[in-house]
Amino acid sequence: MKETRASATAQRVAMRRAAHQLLDDPKVFDDPVALRIIGKESASALQANPHQFEATPLSPYLRAFLAARSRCAEDELALCVRRGVSQYVILGAGLDTFAYRNPHPQGVLHVFEVDHPTTQTWKRKRLDEVGIPLPNDLTFVPVDFETQTLEEGLRAAGYDPDKVTFFSWLGVTEYLTAEAVMATLRFIASATMGSAVVFDYMLSPSLLTPAQRSRFDALAQRLALAGEPWQTFFDPGLLTRDLRAMGFGYVEDNGPEEINTRYFKNRKDGLRVGSLSHVMIAKG
Ligand SMILES: C[S@@+](CC[C@H](N)C(=O)[O-])C[C@H]1O[C@@H](n2cnc3c(N)ncnc32)[C@H](O)[C@@H]1O
Repeated sequence: MKETRASATAQRVAMRRAAHQLLDDPKVFDDPVALRIIGKESASALQANPHQFEATPLSPYLRAFLAARSRCAEDELALCVRRGVSQYVILGAGLDTFAYRNPHPQGVLHVFEVDHPTTQTWKRKRLDEVGIPLPNDLTFVPVDFETQTLEEGLRAAGYDPDKVTFFSWLGVTEYLTAEAVMATLRFIASATMGSAVVFDYMLSPSLLTPAQRSRFDALAQRLALAGEPWQTFFDPGLLTRDLRAMGFGYVEDNGPEEINTRYFKNRKDGLRVGSLSHVMIAKG
């Protein structure tokens, strides 16, 4: 992303999560703050025309995936909190709303929102504009994954490395260099035993069929035009191997089949995810 401009994709994916609230029944990801966080003008426009993103046949697949990855992260988080996790680190938080609807009593789960400084400043302005108050259980951590280590940023913000921690990292790995992705995953692997991460990633173009490849190219072109080109992709087998080598004892790769079975079974509207991205769950 450009150093001086907040992430445009953060707004775009938040808009689609908001559209999911209006269009899809049942909802896969129920987010009562999703419409407010996109800003008053965007929320009014979306309410007037919830189908504004339906210009291409790919749109429902993308909306489904965005809903599913957030749902998966928060399902895993809920399991972890039941087991005593008390820190939740949201990496590349964008307009994620968990901190503003944290269902746990104060003091149970502290949220650290880590993001590029420019995007984080923009989000804080947005929260203020739409009147969403900052909860006591939230700390903002400005970090550029390409130039700063997550460890430094978190420690300076009061993260306790001795506590078991849950991390989510949604919609970010494809925008970073492979070195930056691996450095962050190694840091998470070194977190206290019992810590876990949910993140999504794009499949390597070399693994795609010609039809998938043309959808991939169309999306990649849009992102490059928005100034946030995709850079890093993975082979699920190799990524699983690398995560195990880093020290994750449990590694669960979720491709479209697993995600559709888990979250989109028996729907009347046929909503389901496409096949370009996977969601990984890894536990130490
Ligand atoms: C597509 S948005 C996803 C936001 C959020 N996770 C979500 O799912 O709504 C990508 C996020 O990655 C962040 N990001 C991109 N490059 C980054 C970098 N070098 N350091 C820190 N954050 C970065 C952006 O600021 C943005 O918040």
